[in-house]
Order: sequence, then C-alpha cells, then structure tokens
Amino acid sequence: MNRTGHPLYFDYNASTPVPPRVRAAVLRALEEGFGNPSAAHPYARRARDMVERARIQVARLIGAEPEEIVFTSGGTEASNLALRGVLPGTNGGGLVTTTIEHPATQAPSRALEAAGVQVTRVAPTPDGCVEADHVSAALDAMRTPPVLVSLLLAQNETGVLQPVAEIAALARAHGALLHVDAAQAVGKIPVDVNALGVDLLSLAGHKLYAPKGVGALYVRRGVTIQPLLVGAGHERGLRPGTENVPGIVGLGEACGMALEGLDEEAKRQQGLRDTLEQRLGAAGFVVHGAGASRLPNTTNGRFPGVQGATLATRLCEELAFTTGSACHAGVAKPSDVLTAMGIAAEDAVCAIRLSLGRGTTEEDVERAGELLLRAVSAPRGG
Ligand SMILES: Cc1ncc(COP(=O)(O)O)c(C=O)c1O
Repeated sequence: MNRTGHPLYFDYNASTPVPPRVRAAVLRALEEGFGNPSAAHPYARRARDMVERARIQVARLIGAEPEEIVFTSGGTEASNLALRGVLPGTNGGGLVTTTIEHPATQAPSRALEAAGVQVTRVAPTPDGCVEADHVSAALDAMRTPPVLVSLLLAQNETGVLQPVAEIAALARAHGALLHVDAAQAVGKIPVDVNALGVDLLSLAGHKLYAPKGVGALYVRRGVTIQPLLVGAGHERGLRPGTENVPGIVGLGEACGMALEGLDEEAKRQQGLRDTLEQRLGAAGFVVHGAGASRLPNTTNGRFPGVQGATLATRLCEELAFTTGSACHAGVAKPSDVLTAMGIAAEDAVCAIRLSLGRGTTEEDVERAGELLLRAVSAPRGG
C-alpha cells in the first residue's frame, strides 16, 4: 500500500495517470474547444488552434515537423496505419519485422501475410535485442523487394532498446521504409526521428501521462501512405473523422511536460529501478535482458520456481504490476517475447514486470522490494 491506502503502482508501462496540468488542458479543450475544427467560425478556429498547438508540442518531443504528425486513436491505430498504409496488401510486397513485437504490429503483419505480403520475422538474441546483422540478412534473403521494416524502439515487456538507427540505415540501403513502434519509448527517453532515421513512428498517449484513446503517427515528409478509413479529409486525408480535440490537447500537453526534465527524470527512475533490482537480486531475481540497453523505468525478471501469477495473487491488494504470462483457463501461458529470447517456458511463467514512473518514490521502491521478498518466501498456498 502507498500512503493513501492504495496498492503501490508499478505498472507505468501499461498505463500512466493523467497529471493535473494535462487534466486542466483537457478540461479547457472540453469547455472552450467544443467547436468543430473543420468549420469556419471563431468556435471552430479556437478548436483548430488547440489541435495545431498540440501538433507542434508532439512534433517537438520527437524532433519532427508539425505537418508530419497524424493524430490517431492510439498506438494500435498508428501502427496499423503505418503497416497497412505502406503495404495495402493488394500488390504483394515485403515486410521485415521481429518476433518480439507488440500485438499492435504483430496482428497487422499477420493480416498482411494472409493477404499475400512476404513477411520475415527476425528473432532477438538471448538479451532481447534484435541485431542489425540479422535484419540485414533477412532483407537480403527476401524474394520480393522489401518495402517496409517494422520494429519496436523499446520492447514493452522487457524494456530492451533496439538498434533502430543502425537498422534504419540498412532499410534505406535496401530501398525500404522503416516504421518504429515507439509507444514505450516516447516520453521515457529522448527520441529524435532524424537522429534515428525513421520514416514512420507510432506513439501512444496513455503511456506518457495523456488520456487513453489518443496517439499519433509520425510520417516523414515525402512518404506516401494510404489511409485505413475513408471519409472527409481530416489529418491530410490520412485519418478522416472529426478530431478528438480534448484527447489531442491532452497528448500535446503531456508531450510538452515530457520534454521538461526528460533526462533528469530518466536518470532518477533508472536509479530507483537499479536499486529495486539489487534488492530483489539478493533473493535470486534474474533480470531478463540484463545485458542489453533498457528503458530506465523497466525491470522484467523472475524468481526461479515462483510463478508470476502466484506473486500477483499474493500481492494483488498491495502492489500493482504485470506478470510475463497470460492465464488461459487457469494455465499460465508463457510470454512469446520471453520464449523468443530463448527463456524456457517453465522460467518464462515466473516472469514479472515492474515499471516505474514519475510518481515512484524511494519509499515505494523500498516497500515494493519488501513486499515481493515476503511474497516470494511465503509458504505455498499462502
Ligand atoms: C509497444 C506498444 N505498442 C503499442 C501499444 C498499443 O497502444 P494503444 O494502447 O494506445 O493502442 C502498446 C500498449 O501496450 C505498446 O506497449
């Protein structure tokens, strides 16, 4: 429990709370930005100005130009728009992706494959990192000219950072575009679309202290993609439908906040995460992806022999975190991401993910450590 009697929150990779400043911006948009941004009167102009200000704020956080930002309903839609927008699936084409993607890209890549696109999935090393050499080999081996490479910037379960800049150069050399799912990275670490060399980048509002149901796709100027929906010409025709003005304004404000003190906050969280890992390590906690560069706020690991679900049950009233497995009909199914890293199924079902955020304090880390150690050593059935 924290000071207010609620379970300690260690699940910031799943979603984040909306801070007062973002809430105030959303409320202002609801009150003052209710006009339809596409209309021609002052109420419309007010709403339109709010959307355009947010576009500038989002663009600034990732080093893009405002006109390169397309607002969506979240990370899933952004990645669907990227994959299906580049590869409409009617003319074949080739996609190189990985075995550790979030379902937001995994599912559209499967749908594209079913529609005749050649898809190659590159596996990670045991540390959870996809090697550029392996992507290069996959690009060389494709029957059809590769059109798109798509991978995560930061893996959502392990937090492992992928060598995107290197892979971007390879994609370019093969004449392919690069899409990056940066939903877990934006707002946690500095992300610059030009330094990375990406063509398309997805981000999700609720991972960076904005409300749920809003996100964006960065589309590099000059890159042509097809919309998923047809309708009126909103968002340069790429995402028709009247804009979610309050959500977009919230996303903009959250991006503005993220930019302030990003490096210091990342360092602070990394310090806390490392302390937590040390604490848990004394009780045999094995960190997954320990040898790779990782997000500063994320730890994924296991207490050998203790299922993640068991810990989640023991601590459900005290500590909010995620296990690395889904429970299907009472049987723990190991995470595909962890098994792709070569972790045995019986170890993967022991995985837990703890993700920290702006609200995490030293005291929280201390208490979370105590709770976990107690739960690990509790007698079976306790
Ligand atoms: C890496 C990654 N991509 C995409 C998504 C989906 O984002 P949204 O929930 O906004 O659709 C998530 C959310 O869990 C994620 O972690």
